[in-house]
Amino acid sequence: MTQVNQTAGSVNTEHAKLLAWVDQVAGQCKPDSVYWCDGSQAEYQAMLDTMVASGSAQWLAKDKKPNSVLVLSDPADVARVEDRTFICCENEADAGPTNHWKAPDEMRAILKPLFDGCMKGRTMYVIPFSMGPVGSPIAHIGIEISDSPYVVANMHTMTRVGNKVMDVLGTDGEFVPCVHSVGMPLESGQKDVAWPCNADNKYITHFPETKEIWSFGSGYGGNALLGKKCFALRIASIMAKEQGWMAEHMLILKLTSPEGAVKYIAAAFPSACGKTNLAMLNPTVKGWKVECVGDDIAWMKFGKDGKLHAINPEAGFFGVAPGTNYDSNPNAMESLKENAIFTNVGLTDDGDIWWEEIDGPTPDHLIDWHGNDWKPGTDVKAAHPNARFTAKAGQCPVIAPNWEDPAGVPIDAILFGGRRASTQPLAMEASSWQHGTFLGSTMASEKTAAAAGGLGELRFDPMAMLPFCGYHMGDYWQHWLNMGNKPGAKMPKVFYVNWFRKSPDGKWLWPGFGENSRILKWVCDRVDGKGDVTETAIGNLPTIDSLDLDGLDMPAEDLKQLLSVDNAEWLKVIPAMRDHYAKFGDKLPKELAGELDALEARLKA
Ligand code: OXD
Ligand code: MN
Repeated sequence: MTQVNQTAGSVNTEHAKLLAWVDQVAGQCKPDSVYWCDGSQAEYQAMLDTMVASGSAQWLAKDKKPNSVLVLSDPADVARVEDRTFICCENEADAGPTNHWKAPDEMRAILKPLFDGCMKGRTMYVIPFSMGPVGSPIAHIGIEISDSPYVVANMHTMTRVGNKVMDVLGTDGEFVPCVHSVGMPLESGQKDVAWPCNADNKYITHFPETKEIWSFGSGYGGNALLGKKCFALRIASIMAKEQGWMAEHMLILKLTSPEGAVKYIAAAFPSACGKTNLAMLNPTVKGWKVECVGDDIAWMKFGKDGKLHAINPEAGFFGVAPGTNYDSNPNAMESLKENAIFTNVGLTDDGDIWWEEIDGPTPDHLIDWHGNDWKPGTDVKAAHPNARFTAKAGQCPVIAPNWEDPAGVPIDAILFGGRRASTQPLAMEASSWQHGTFLGSTMASEKTAAAAGGLGELRFDPMAMLPFCGYHMGDYWQHWLNMGNKPGAKMPKVFYVNWFRKSPDGKWLWPGFGENSRILKWVCDRVDGKGDVTETAIGNLPTIDSLDLDGLDMPAEDLKQLLSVDNAEWLKVIPAMRDHYAKFGDKLPKELAGELDALEARLKA
C-alpha cells in the first residue's frame, strides 16, 4: 500500500505570486506539512490509500466495483449549504436579491480567526487544476488549497490536476485562488474522525473583486470541490460578464442525424428535472445518435464564426445516486462501474453499493449511510437522498469523442425547462434571443405537484442559476441581452421544454427519458429552418405532424393536451411573473419588462 508521504511535496515552479500565496496561506493555516499535487495516477491511488488507512473510506469489493471506495460523511455535512454561501462584494447592490451578501472586510474579519491554525495536525494539499481542457482558450486555471484528501481525490476526477496545469501556468499565469479547510485542526495526539468538518461554522465565500474563494467547515461536494459551483459558476459568471462570455449551469449534448449532420445543444434545468438523465440519454428516435459533452456546466465563448463555442469545464460527474438505475440512466450506471468514489450510499454484505431505486431486489441486509445495520422496512433511507457518485466523464459509454476539444463545440440551441404539471407545453421555440432570455429569466418549477388541472405554486429559478449566479441577477440578464447584441453574434435558437405535464386526472402525459430525443430532433429541424410550428401567444409550438412519433404508441388526445396553450390559464401566471420580476427593481432590463407586457397583451388579444 502506498500512502501519501506526509512530509513530501516539493514543487518546481518560479511562479512568484503563487509561491507567495501558498506561503501566506500555510502561515495562516499552520498545517503540519504542505503537499503539492502532481496529478499522477499514483497520487490518486495514494490518496485513496490514505483515506482507507485513516478510516475515512473503505474499499468496495474488487469484483463488484473495482478500485472504488465508499465514504460516509458526518450527518451534519451532506449537501451544499446555500444559507452559508456568501457573495462578498463591496456594494451590496452588486450581489442582488438572490445572494447572501457580506462586505469583504466584514467577511475577512470573520474568516481570519477561523482559518488561523485550522490545518494543525493535517497536510495542506496544493491542487493546481484546470477547468476545461488544459491550455484551451476557453479554460481557466484555479489553485485549490485543501486539508482534505477526499477533496484531492475528487478533484482528480472532476477536474484536470497537477503538473500539466503548472506547465500552462508558467511563471506568471493567472489563477483563481481557492482555499478550503474542513475546519477541524488536530491537537497533538488527538485522533481524527472519519469525516472531519465544523458543522456549526460553515462559510462558503466568494470575493468578486479579487476573484477569491474561501470555504470553511464543510467537506461535501460543491462546498469543498471549489472548481465546481464556486469557481465554474459563481466566480466564472462574474469573469464571464467582465470578459464577454457565458458561464452557465447547462449540460451539453451532441446530436448526429442519420445523414451525419451534427448539432450541439446546451440545456439548463433546475435540480430534480432529469438533467443528468438528459445528458446521457439513449435516443429512441430512429437513426439518431446522442452523445454527452457535459452534464452540469457549460462555458461558452464566441468563436470566429460568431457562434458560441462551449466546453465542459469539468472532467467528471458528481451525480446524485438515488434514483439512478439501468432504466433511468444506463450510461450513468456504466460510468460508475469502476474507479469511482461513492459518498453516503448503502453498502451490501458482499461489498457493493446500494441506493433507493437501484436495479434488482432490495437486499435483506445493508449498512446504511449512517453506518448502521439496515433492512427493508427500516424507516430511514439506506442512502442519503443527496448521496453521490464521482466518476470520470471518460468512463461514460456515450461521451462524445470530441468532448475535450480545446476549441469547444459550436452551440446551435439552448433549452430551458422546468417541472410543470400544467400550463407549460411540451416544447416551444422563442421568437428571438431577447424572447429566449425572457423565457430563461422566468423559468420555473412547481414547488409541489399541481392539483389536477390546477396551478402549483411556482418557484422561479432563472436559467437554473438561482444559487449559482455570483452577481445581481438583473445585471446577469442584461449580460445575456448584451451577448445577443454583440456585432456578428450568431446566437443559438432558444427553446423551452416541459417533460412533466400531467392530464387533469394526474397522469404523466409524456413518457420522457429516451423519448425526449423526439423533441431534440424537432429542435434540430428548427435550427435548420425546417419543421412546422403553430404560432401562439407564448411562442412557437411544434405541430403534431412536425414531430417524429414513429414507434411511439400514445393517444392522440394526450399529444393534443401536451401541445395545448390555454391563454386564460397563462394569464393567471402573469401576476407571479410580475412579483418575481419586481424583486430585481431597476436592475430589471427594460427589454424583459417589455417582453412580459407583450406576453400579457398577446394573451389578452
Ligand atoms: C449539482 C447541483 O450538484 O446543481 O449539480 O446542485
Ligand atoms: Mn448542477
